[in-house]
Amino acid sequence: MTSVNSEKLSSARFAQATDAFVEVFTASVDFDQRMAPQDIQGSIAHATMLCACGILTEAERDAIINGLTQIGAEIADGTFVWSIKQEDVHMNIEARLTDMIGVAGKKLHTGRSRNDQVATDIRLYLRSEIVQITAQLTRLQTAILDLAEQHAGTIMPGFTHLQVAQPITFGHHLMAWFEMLRRDRERLDDCVKRINIMPLGAAALAGTSYPIDRFMTAELLGFSRPSANSLDSVSDRDFAIEFAAVASLIMMHLSRFSEELILWSSAFVDFIDMPDAFCTGSSIMPQKKNPDVPELVRGKSGRVTGHLVALLMLMKSQPLAYNKDNQEDKEPLFDTADTLVNCLRAYADMVPHITAKKANMYNAAKRGFATATDLADYLVRKGMAFRDAHEVVGLAVRLGLESQRDLSELTLAELQGFSALVSEDVFAYLTLEGSVAARQHIGGTAPETVKAAIQAARQLLDNLGMGME
Ligand code: ARG
Repeated sequence: MTSVNSEKLSSARFAQATDAFVEVFTASVDFDQRMAPQDIQGSIAHATMLCACGILTEAERDAIINGLTQIGAEIADGTFVWSIKQEDVHMNIEARLTDMIGVAGKKLHTGRSRNDQVATDIRLYLRSEIVQITAQLTRLQTAILDLAEQHAGTIMPGFTHLQVAQPITFGHHLMAWFEMLRRDRERLDDCVKRINIMPLGAAALAGTSYPIDRFMTAELLGFSRPSANSLDSVSDRDFAIEFAAVASLIMMHLSRFSEELILWSSAFVDFIDMPDAFCTGSSIMPQKKNPDVPELVRGKSGRVTGHLVALLMLMKSQPLAYNKDNQEDKEPLFDTADTLVNCLRAYADMVPHITAKKANMYNAAKRGFATATDLADYLVRKGMAFRDAHEVVGLAVRLGLESQRDLSELTLAELQGFSALVSEDVFAYLTLEGSVAARQHIGGTAPETVKAAIQAARQLLDNLGMGME
């Protein structure tokens, strides 16, 4: 063919060279080169299978594997030359392989297409990212458990509507965060089941006429099985959307976590001290210590959810099978994984250094009539209907507000003025300690219950860790 289009993919069909801007516009190599290790891993497995099925000779297979291994080293040490002309990571590697080993390199693409190749690469990439993410998630969960253990008996106000509601323990509050992350971990594990299915062999869309062994390639690559429909395999990115959804949920949880840390470290709440190493000062206000890490994480949660929506919209209405639209899946996906692993890492590093200001937490619980429900429950136990008890306690709270005293600071005579059912034993229920200690059913805030929950959680992490080995 003419020299003008000699470098173009599938060049024989084209009479014109690609427009210079279109070449740049359609190329993905700038970002998909990141999947080079997975691309090489997939190609080595593919060549191994082709040889086992008699489609490549052993000499060709060995030349391909050696060449790809060397290319992997060139990419790792930065000497590999990436070219926009070769459009994407797949063509760049294949072209270099052919440069290195000659005609055997041109045989690597037998029985496959970039369509099943790229779908395989993304799945391998996500699988390895999820290993990193899970490791950071586990570090964070462990840090939360350690902090919760220190504070199983530390009393603080629990809130509804951000108003003081009932006393709880800080350990119990921390364990709520643990539970959110526990479900996130389950979701990650579950989405791996659908990621870990192998598209290779679907070829462009219809499969291949070569006598390939897809089970062998799947096994070589650690996939649970080959995909069941070639059209579906090369087109759908639902597994990526699912991952982005799980990532969005984790980031949503971290944003809630962040919001509370930011609030609690502000001077007017002052429940915790954030470690200096995770905060910055202000360029103008010398007194400032800003909780940058939680603020950034809170901000980044929006960007990850944005990627989820981008991926959903990318897939929406796409006809079967592969469309070039799908090249747009990579940047949001890469950024989702990077953002998630970085946010989890920052949190796992930071949480062990958070210090609780116990006296401030305690006083805040006291100031907020947090044991009002306990007084109502006390009256109910003595025979009053709950609605009536609610009314009586409302009056007691009003007296407390007017005289600036907590319920436990009212006198017995004053309390008896509201109801004759009150006797001396009431004070055991009106203290913050009595209130939390009484909630000892499973899921409750009593220090002993929190300790048991921490114990069970440690066991869970140990079991999950053993499952990963
Ligand atoms: N760079 C492409 C992508 O990311 C690879 C698959 C290209 N296939 C094709 N038929 N143009 O999706």
